[in-house]
Amino acid sequence: MSFISPKGTVDNIAGYQPGAMKLSTAKKMHRLSFNESRIGPSPKALSAAVDIMQNCYLYPLPGNPEIREAIAERYSVDADRIFCGSGSEDILRLIACGYADAGDDIVYTEHGMVIYPTAASCVGANAIIAPEKDLFVDVDSVLETVTENSKVVYVANPGNPTGTYIPKSEIARLRENLNDDILLVVDAAYAEFVDADDYSPGWELVDNGKDNVIMTRTMSKMYALAGLRLGWSYAPASVNAVLNKVRAGFNVNAAAIAAGIEAIKDIEHEKKAKAYNDKMKAWFEAELLALGLEVAPSVCNFSLVRFPDGAEQCKAVNQVLSENGISVKPCGGAYLPDCLRITIGAEDGLELLIDVLKDLKTKGVI
Ligand SMILES: Cc1ncc(COP(=O)(O)O)c(C=O)c1O
Repeated sequence: MSFISPKGTVDNIAGYQPGAMKLSTAKKMHRLSFNESRIGPSPKALSAAVDIMQNCYLYPLPGNPEIREAIAERYSVDADRIFCGSGSEDILRLIACGYADAGDDIVYTEHGMVIYPTAASCVGANAIIAPEKDLFVDVDSVLETVTENSKVVYVANPGNPTGTYIPKSEIARLRENLNDDILLVVDAAYAEFVDADDYSPGWELVDNGKDNVIMTRTMSKMYALAGLRLGWSYAPASVNAVLNKVRAGFNVNAAAIAAGIEAIKDIEHEKKAKAYNDKMKAWFEAELLALGLEVAPSVCNFSLVRFPDGAEQCKAVNQVLSENGISVKPCGGAYLPDCLRITIGAEDGLELLIDVLKDLKTKGVI
């Protein structure tokens, strides 16, 4: 019997539900559930991380100045506007710590990441969902959902697991119509994959002079440093001052800093990862469409597939995929129980997945 219990908002947290990490029936597991990079990190990043291990008995510099400067240099911005965290998830949580109190509202969109309501619940805030429209963030719906009580709005652009984006004019319209005292968080974890001319991860909004927008980014996806945990954000210095108050003293590890500095500079490697994603995603999605499946217009390194007969069919397909050693992400937690999210991972995994689906088509399962 326990005499202690968590606070009510924490008791209700659903928690992160990953795709399968281990598949008992298959010899090899094809990991297509975490949106990890097929290409892997820049060799320069890797060797910097290995080299720094000799000094791993030393704390990194507080406030992470070297990696902030490297990011600032890459994008020609002021390093005081860059903040780094142990993954962008760290930053997304710190935002709730810094800006929302118990009883306040934090708004996020229907198919948004579980990180947002979790961050809200940890500070005792109410996590309020704004419905999306056909897998797209709907600015009008966000505006209808916010109240006087709202302190933070999280919007992923592009979204995960939808993979869809909304144009910069729409994000600007959102900012214009939100009260100035609400912090708008633009989570642009997949920004590096997007080619669209009308897309922006949010730089210009941060520079609007009102100190009420933060753009978050990750080095887990395009830069393939997921295991080291490195995220960053661009925000006015006043917002960074708040994040610096609530962060852990040494919130980014030395290996992540060393690798991140090299990764952000290695533009050739980034181009290689982008080219692989573009080519493989085009092939993969054409195959899915040829099978008669519905595929969301993803601009990311993953595809979202909808199964026409609904959640039970989706579950049955996932079971067969897993028996074949393929781990993908079921999306019930993002209110898409009839969908699977599939990372544009290695060729052999994607080819096997298509073969399995073709077989299921022959058998009338899909
Ligand atoms: C939209 C989005 N935001 C944030 C994150 C967190 O990334 P990380 O903590 O690895 O930087 C992810 C990871 O999948 C994501 O998809």
